[in-house]
Amino acid sequence: MRINSVYECNILPLSKIHNRAGNITIVEGEKSVPFDVKRIYYLYDMPSGETRGGHGHKALYQLIVATSGSFDVQLDDGVNKRIVRLNRPDYGLLIVPGIWRELFEFSSGSVCLVLASTKYDEDDYIRDYSEFQLYKNKL
Ligand code: TYD
Repeated sequence: MRINSVYECNILPLSKIHNRAGNITIVEGEKSVPFDVKRIYYLYDMPSGETRGGHGHKALYQLIVATSGSFDVQLDDGVNKRIVRLNRPDYGLLIVPGIWRELFEFSSGSVCLVLASTKYDEDDYIRDYSEFQLYKNKL
């Protein structure tokens, strides 16, 4: 059995309050996203042509948002792959546990905001792709 496929990673529309002075998007844990938010980090200053990610997680849920610019996220559950392009600050990509992800095609000046369901835990990472495949096959 393989739990969690790439088809469980959905684009979530986020709130957007618009006025003449600009927009605001609010993300609330357990309301806008199906997890409590324990950690926030963001990627920026990615050199052109660079790839980030390249790992899976055993338990972590994440919401990924292109708060500025655009980039692609490749999702891989060991069988199926999907590429999702993120280019709007009012939409986020939910990544469920057990998905190998790679981020690439960062536009100049792009910022990748990540909301995470747990504190940082290196033991939750699977950084080797063959280990990830074995892990998925054992589920
Ligand atoms: P990593 O998750 O491998 O980056 P990415 O998936 O974006 O390519 O993390 C890069 C480095 O930062 C690595 O040394 C671990 C460290 N790190 C933390 O210390 N805490 C964190 O919350 C995160 C996400 C990374």
